[in-house]
Amino acid sequence: MKLPKDGLSATGVTKILVCGGAGYIGSHLVQELSTQQDYEIIILDNLSKGHIKSIPKGIKFEKADIRDKTALERIFSKHKPDAVMHFCASISVGESVADPLGYYENNVAGTIYLLQVMKKYNVKYFIFSSSAAIFGNAKEVPIPDDARPEPINPYGDTKFVVEKMLAWSENAYGLKYICLRYFNACGAHESGDFGEDHDPETHLIPLILQVALGQRESISIFGDDYETKDGTCVRDYIHVTDLATAHIRSLAYLIKENKSQSFNLGSGEGYTVKEVINAARNVTGHPIPDKVEDRRIGDPAILIAGSTRAEQILGWKRKYNTIESIVASAWKYHKTHINGYNY
Ligand SMILES: NC(=O)c1ccc[n+]([C@@H]2O[C@H](COP(=O)([O-])OP(=O)(O)OC[C@H]3O[C@@H](n4cnc5c(N)ncnc54)[C@H](O)[C@@H]3O)[C@@H](O)[C@H]2O)c1
Repeated sequence: MKLPKDGLSATGVTKILVCGGAGYIGSHLVQELSTQQDYEIIILDNLSKGHIKSIPKGIKFEKADIRDKTALERIFSKHKPDAVMHFCASISVGESVADPLGYYENNVAGTIYLLQVMKKYNVKYFIFSSSAAIFGNAKEVPIPDDARPEPINPYGDTKFVVEKMLAWSENAYGLKYICLRYFNACGAHESGDFGEDHDPETHLIPLILQVALGQRESISIFGDDYETKDGTCVRDYIHVTDLATAHIRSLAYLIKENKSQSFNLGSGEGYTVKEVINAARNVTGHPIPDKVEDRRIGDPAILIAGSTRAEQILGWKRKYNTIESIVASAWKYHKTHINGYNY
């Protein structure tokens, strides 16, 4: 989907500041955006977790921290963005429990500075990377778009606090925003040149593929006695390129309709841990030994969401509809980048 042709700026080009654009999901958004011509991309990232090698040649890059308001002002004054997409965050649930204040500082205080500078420079459009973690132990699955957020850890709470800040900022300053609540982001760019490289890696698919690459002996399954079809937990896996297209559609919608919204981005289906491992066995041809361990505290049996609202309002459709296609795209990246971007 294209952004409105005349853009927002005097030049007819929409300038988008992508905060966290050197990270996993942000870099895939940049890949998708850079295939279109009607706007200019500026990446802001402190590279605490992002990768300089994920930034395509020719894309403007500012190394800066969103908690540095002076740097933000310099960047806004220099580039005069029309819209901000905000991917920056500390993203580990476990780490957030151990260091909640660090998480509130980066995810909440950092976002406050960003919104304040947006306000000062009269930037009205904001797309926010929220998370399924705002829902905590969901009472209804698939989780509907209008489910009540009840986060159960500091990470999820930082996302919920920002969502509330956005609503009040719209009320006070006329900010227009979209919150995208992702479920499990996964997969890699179709070229095989860009993919997932977190340190430490905690996500299931890259961990499984590390077994196929001989980097770990087996994959742990935490509990096989849940009330699911094979006893293992069910999660919702969304391809990172599908997330990227949801961002582009969201911005186009905001510019056209000028209406703030929140959307769940899930598949409505979900796969068990065993199904994901089996898909990886089929894709890689490797036996991928698994090891059943005790359940982890706080792991719900099933966590999936529909995307009814995003489909109806944004016309968003997933391109990657099977776990095999998602795992195959991840494998294409990992087998040629065995140490991620430091291959
Ligand atoms: N990966 C998932 O499955 C998932 C699921 C739900 C929500 N999210 C959200 O999506 C966003 C992107 O996640 P990701 O997996 O791409 O993470 P990531 O760590 O790969 O990307 C985050 C990027 O932000 C940068 N960053 C962090 N703090 C910064 C700061 N203070 N100043 C400047 N740059 C900073 C990092 O260097 C990194 O490049 C996050 O907000 C995350 O909470 C991710």
